[in-house]
Amino acid sequence: MNAQHMTPVAAALALLGLAVSGSAFAAGEPCAMCHAGIAQGHGNAAHKAVACTTCHTGTEAHLKDMKKHPTVSMDPALCGTCHQAQYKSAFTISEHLPRVSKKLDGGPAPDPFFDRALGGHGFTKEHAVPRAHAFMAIDQFIVDRAFGGRFEPKDGWLYSTMEGGKSYKVWDVLKDNYPDNNTHKAHKPGTAAAANGVCWSCKSTDIMLDWAYMGDKVEGAKFFRGSNPVDVVRNVQHGLNCNFCHDPHNVKPRVVRDALIDAMTRDGKFNVYKDFAARQTKLDVQSAGVRGFERKVAYLERADSRLMCAQCHVEYVCNPGMNVKTGEKVGFNSRLTNLFPWVNADQIEAYYDEVGFRDFKHNVTGATLIKMQHPDAETFFGSKHDKAGADCATCHMPKVTENGKTYTLHWNASPVNYVKETCLTCHKDKTEKQMVASIEVMKAHFDGKVREAESRMNDMFNAFEHAINAGVDDAVLAKARKLHESAHVNWEYWTAANGAYFHNHDMAVRSLAKSAKAAQDATALLRKAIAEKNGKKTAAK
Ligand code: HEC
Ligand code: HEC
Ligand code: HEC
Ligand code: HEC
Ligand code: HEC
Ligand code: HEC
Ligand code: HEC
Repeated sequence: MNAQHMTPVAAALALLGLAVSGSAFAAGEPCAMCHAGIAQGHGNAAHKAVACTTCHTGTEAHLKDMKKHPTVSMDPALCGTCHQAQYKSAFTISEHLPRVSKKLDGGPAPDPFFDRALGGHGFTKEHAVPRAHAFMAIDQFIVDRAFGGRFEPKDGWLYSTMEGGKSYKVWDVLKDNYPDNNTHKAHKPGTAAAANGVCWSCKSTDIMLDWAYMGDKVEGAKFFRGSNPVDVVRNVQHGLNCNFCHDPHNVKPRVVRDALIDAMTRDGKFNVYKDFAARQTKLDVQSAGVRGFERKVAYLERADSRLMCAQCHVEYVCNPGMNVKTGEKVGFNSRLTNLFPWVNADQIEAYYDEVGFRDFKHNVTGATLIKMQHPDAETFFGSKHDKAGADCATCHMPKVTENGKTYTLHWNASPVNYVKETCLTCHKDKTEKQMVASIEVMKAHFDGKVREAESRMNDMFNAFEHAINAGVDDAVLAKARKLHESAHVNWEYWTAANGAYFHNHDMAVRSLAKSAKAAQDATALLRKAIAEKNGKKTAAK
């Protein structure tokens, strides 16, 4: 068949190196013998007419020798050959530019305060505001804190002009400055090498089949939590693959991120979804994997986007640290290095105290602190809009109609881009302008509270410096450090979270007030101890 005689879908598949083989294996018969579960799920669902060989090549060799694996395509463009509207919209880009630092004036975490508060942590090297999903893998590989300047765009800063509407392959865009080695270190001044093997699982499913449940080190799995991150990401091409949220065989809504499945199924005191989410969706957790070790897939009773997005938009631990309960280092042999705490701001201190994990020690105060990621889902559960019946998709993935066809817009951006299709479906008495104003005003009020907590923490850091210079007793410093822990996590939570001013303003204000109060208490305690110390010195003279 030459390209001229192909249907548009067949031509697109041919470009990807795949064949539409008509009826051959359409029902998956020769495959069903050994892959019964998959073939059955496939045969009973919307994809029954999509041949196994549409997505898997090399099946002839496999049928002769099953050790010769067929290919498994994780490329979103493959799904896009038939689901153009969803594909194109998923990789649409917003106006947000790359590498806009959170530390800029007016940013969520401006300097000089941010560097002072993060005291030497790798995030001080580069901490950028999020942008479109199309760039998630690319942006993570080049951020100054991740791979020490190893990876760079082939086109230099011109990469900032990349257009959306399609899924980029990372290695078409980036180059490796040190292709002859995999040494994971800071190659350039002002950078850090803080990435690790777990990072990939929040960006891409490309190496999902090479990874055992929770990233445990098991026989046959190519990668594990402690793998060299350079080796890992050299195998990653795509960000936000469609199969994070859709099963390619039975097309059921699902989640695949292991730490979320763990958080939803483990025993324990804390489960922010079960305890606070306004609606509950049942999970059907299944074992998957044909490479001799287990991974897990959790099918959702309904397409609950609050869980789909929670595969990435959550607070997590993905790095080594310390256990303050035992005083021991926590290394990649521990599952604590692939952990979703799955708690909200009200619970976070109690949670980390119970688990004992901390990320780093502050370089001035000596307090052991958490480096927060982005607890977006946790913050949303139990909020006014959660109770009003909105899932993440209600505001970020509206149903839209184009050329008479209705579909789910997969462009996850600020709802400001589609207020009519989101906010106004409920707030029928308002205009778009009014809705945008309500978002802006919530942000402005919230920003004031963040800056207030920062100001109190600045006083606290000054007091720590004076107290340490004055030789204040360690018992006092220890008390102040505990208060610093509280001030820190109740502040940093909100600089790390996205859209929190809107998602749960009440919780933000409550937690930020806690931060300011803890910092003030620490300052008062330290100043008193300094005064006493100075008083004694004066008396002795
Ligand atoms: C005779 C049994 C048998 C048949 C028939 C069979 N497979 Fe397999 N398949 C296996 C086994 C066993 C494995 C795992 C091999 C291993 O790694 O040990 C496997 C692995 C796979 C994988 C996984 C590849 C990976 O990278 O992990 C895919 C995809 C696959 N088969 C697709 C198919 C398709 C499509 C068909 C039909 C054209 C098919 N299989 C027919 C037994 C079979
Ligand atoms: C060769 C064409 C083709 C390819 C490739 C393809 N699909 Fe489909 N898909 C279909 C058809 C046909 C349907 C059923 C009709 C419909 O809903 O459009 C469907 C249905 C679906 C549905 C269910 C829609 C619903 O209404 O519930 C989802 C989800 C889906 N596909 C996801 C995917 C994903 C993810 C991929 C890539 C792994 C993919 N598809 C690849 C053709 C394809
Ligand atoms: C973060 C999760 C997520 C990812 C990733 C994702 N989708 Fe979806 N998808 C959804 C949600 C949510 C819906 C709406 C489901 C509903 O309303 O029942 C949906 C619906 C669909 C449907 C059903 C038809 C429609 O438009 O409502 C298709 C087909 C589909 N997605 C294809 C894709 C393709 C192709 C990709 C990759 C380019 C993809 N999806 C990536 C969450 C996701
Ligand atoms: C629309 C694309 C698509 C079609 C059609 C498709 N697959 Fe797959 N298959 C995938 C993807 C993507 C994966 C990766 C695993 C996942 O996403 O769960 C996969 C994984 C597999 C695996 C490995 C499962 C594991 O857990 O390691 C087997 C076996 C397999 N497919 C067999 C089949 C058979 C048999 C058929 C036809 C009955 C088929 N596939 C049809 C896309 C497809
Ligand atoms: C596989 C991980 C992953 C999943 C799943 C995911 N996101 Fe994201 N999201 C990211 C990352 C990473 C970024 C930042 C990308 C960058 O800056 O390059 C991001 C950025 C965003 C942005 C900012 C976009 C912009 O234009 O500024 C929004 C909004 C967003 N996500 C919402 C969602 C929603 C809603 C869902 C669920 C429907 C979701 N995301 C699912 C990882 C994910
Ligand atoms: C009721 C509507 C609504 C719901 C539901 C909702 N969001 Fe948002 N989200 C917003 C608004 C409004 C903003 C702020 C946008 C702005 O300032 O431009 C936002 C911002 C964000 C951002 C930051 C975007 C950026 O560019 O900085 C992310 C990421 C995000 N939301 C993810 C989620 C996730 C994940 C969920 C579900 C757990 C969710 N949202 C639920 C309305 C909503
Ligand atoms: C699913 C329906 C629904 C959607 C979609 C929705 N809202 Fe609401 N919204 C509500 C309801 C109901 C309340 C009142 C909740 C309450 O007071 O407990 C509310 C309250 C609010 C409030 C007051 C919140 C507060 O803390 O005082 C603002 C502001 C608001 N919405 C703005 C928006 C914006 C902006 C969007 C779009 C990004 C949006 N809403 C989308 C239903 C919705």
